[in-house]
Amino acid sequence: MSKNLHEKPFDETTIAKLEIFEDYAQAWIPAFVMWGEPVICIFDFFAGTGFDKNGVPGSPIRILKKTKEQIGHIFQKKVQLKVFFNEFDPKKCEQLSRSCDDFLKTHSDVRRAIELKISNEDFDVCFERLLPTIKAHSSLVYLDQNGIRFLADKYLLELEKTTRTDFLYFVSSSYFWRFGEKEEFKSHVILDMEEAKKNPYQFIHRSLITQLRTKLPLDSKLKLYPFSLKKGANIHGIIFGASHPRAAEKFLSIAWKRNEINGEANFDIDEDHKKNQLNFFEPPQLKKIASFQQRLREKILSGSISNNFEAFNFALGEAYLGSHAAEELKKMKKEKLIDYDGLSPLVTYVNVYQKERLVTFKLVKK
Ligand SMILES: C[S@@+](CC[C@H](N)C(=O)[O-])C[C@H]1O[C@@H](n2cnc3c(N)ncnc32)[C@H](O)[C@@H]1O
Repeated sequence: MSKNLHEKPFDETTIAKLEIFEDYAQAWIPAFVMWGEPVICIFDFFAGTGFDKNGVPGSPIRILKKTKEQIGHIFQKKVQLKVFFNEFDPKKCEQLSRSCDDFLKTHSDVRRAIELKISNEDFDVCFERLLPTIKAHSSLVYLDQNGIRFLADKYLLELEKTTRTDFLYFVSSSYFWRFGEKEEFKSHVILDMEEAKKNPYQFIHRSLITQLRTKLPLDSKLKLYPFSLKKGANIHGIIFGASHPRAAEKFLSIAWKRNEINGEANFDIDEDHKKNQLNFFEPPQLKKIASFQQRLREKILSGSISNNFEAFNFALGEAYLGSHAAEELKKMKKEKLIDYDGLSPLVTYVNVYQKERLVTFKLVKK
């Protein structure tokens, strides 16, 4: 479980994970810089060395590169960007410091723009020390652990209490499938493995998140989204967490760009490819997006969704994009099942949350 990742090159799945981390930083940094917050923070609690054996950048260097892309705006808006990297292994931490130093030597503008702190602590200690800073500002938190241990309630539920934090966890979810019943595992994260095993193995990361949601307080605003990453026989995954719909929409856009069929995995998790095949003995199965659109259609026809605000929130809640909902709404208008003003049903974050432009869907009486 505690293999030294940096002694070998990053594999394809690790790169996919790092790209998702990086894509989210690319969306997050400008959003908060342009917002004009005086201080914003990024935390990478399991930062590694900076590069793999072949010089491919790891999460900390990718964060610095994304900062570099926004350097003009950071200076212009006078935003103080505080960056915290932590790595427990002393040798790796030394290497991390060297990697960051080299980067900042070549990019002196980044050195001037950010306040970088590198620590060499056990996550448990580091998280407790930095939690007040996480809570005090808009924060982006990366928890790229090996294994599952740091998904324990004591960390997750602390993150739940923060209102301005977006986080990305990495979890080796298939370990739960194999070892979830063992006492050593249960001392870290308790899951109902009987429940989880009711679903096939490929859904283990999704099942894990379904169960984590039940641990959150009933009135929690925190939304958790999975992205499963298959690596050989193992299923790992990212858990994205945030309480603001803008954050959820940004993450989901990244996830759907990565996989336009399911928006949730680096493989065909719902076996959508099989759903094309004709089977004379069973009714045709809908592919993932079509099945969401069918649910939306039913809700509109029953009157439980009657405007773009409700349609957008329904889409986000089910981990789909406003565009998936809009496509169905336009189809329903064409079929003369509903009517609304204008050409577009305006199921986007900007129209719903920023411009607050309400579009009502009227059912057409036959
Ligand atoms: C999956 S790797 C992170 C890789 C890194 N994000 C990158 O892109 O290179 C996990 C890292 O966490 C470190 N680590 C292991 N246990 C830790 C602990 N208790 N606290 C902090 N870091 C720890 C490991 O040494 C390892 O470098």
